[in-house]
Amino acid sequence: MRVAVLTGGGDCPGLNAAIRAVVRKATVSYSDEVVGFRDGWRGVVEDDSLPLDVARCRGVLPRGGTMLGTSRYNPFKVPGGVDRAIANLERHGIEAVVAIGGEGTLSAARQLSRQGVPVIGIPKTIDNDVNRTDFTIGFDTAVQVAVEAIDRLHTTAESHDRVMVCEVMGRHVGWIALYSGLAAGAAVVLVPEEPFDLSLVAGHLARRHEKGRFASIVVVAEGAKPKEGTLDLPPAEIDQYDHERLGGIGSVVARELEGLTGLECRVTILGHVLRGGTPSAFDRVLATRFGIAAVDAAHDRAFGEMVALHGGSVERVTLEDATSELKRVGRSLVEDVARVFLE
Ligand code: F6P
Repeated sequence: MRVAVLTGGGDCPGLNAAIRAVVRKATVSYSDEVVGFRDGWRGVVEDDSLPLDVARCRGVLPRGGTMLGTSRYNPFKVPGGVDRAIANLERHGIEAVVAIGGEGTLSAARQLSRQGVPVIGIPKTIDNDVNRTDFTIGFDTAVQVAVEAIDRLHTTAESHDRVMVCEVMGRHVGWIALYSGLAAGAAVVLVPEEPFDLSLVAGHLARRHEKGRFASIVVVAEGAKPKEGTLDLPPAEIDQYDHERLGGIGSVVARELEGLTGLECRVTILGHVLRGGTPSAFDRVLATRFGIAAVDAAHDRAFGEMVALHGGSVERVTLEDATSELKRVGRSLVEDVARVFLE
């Protein structure tokens, strides 16, 4: 079989581990040939590819980023893009495409699959917002990096009796904010799923510090939203792929909290630091298991499906289900956490 592999969307730690697993499984177990397309769907539409084998993948397991490059290119938004993609795949004799991506890349995969392209999906994104999988590649590493940073903020906050606002990525969902906030003992976590009221946050912080307690950490997801009419945020810029470019809400939150509480506040924006560097052991294992399972799925002709983690097992779900909606932080989880830990 001739198998294609690509990585699309924002990069994350663990992509190389997934590519390596696809290549090793395909070549060692099935004697397949593997072609890598560069920069996600762009490489397929513009026919930019390279042959991949075990030797080319040596040493990539612990490396962050992606050896294939990535972009948010969507063939459905480019005139003639889909026809060119299909023609190029046929010309290369590709019998299966393993698309490693988040919501955008996998939605394009779902649409291409409807047009007969034999696609298997692998979920990745530090945001962990792909539906129907417990975890996506990259999330565990991002949380670990955030927790290490917040632990450091904690000690300096303690010395100065300050409030430290830490902004983390999370465009539409608050998984990174919630997990890192919980793991690092934050006093407040603001997620996009639950619009916040800063006067309530300020009251909560003021009470903590009145009790003689100090060092409050506020973790805010970049996509967190204030309750209507409570706070003005500057409009987000739009990038070349029509996505909002977020980042900066942490500064607004810190400034406002300082005014409301009289406490000294500082802000740290972690941004792309969360996406860079070496993957955690968990992400390397998850990526490897997903890569192996994706090649098995291709040989089972389970096209239009995505490999997914369910309670420890790697299973298959349809791309339709995986991309029908984002996996958001549920209200009950936020409430449980708020009730017990964020006081
Ligand atoms: O990878 C997903 C994500 O991390 C979002 O949380 C964030 O808004 C976005 O990527 C930023 O991506 P870029 O700046 O690379 O376009």
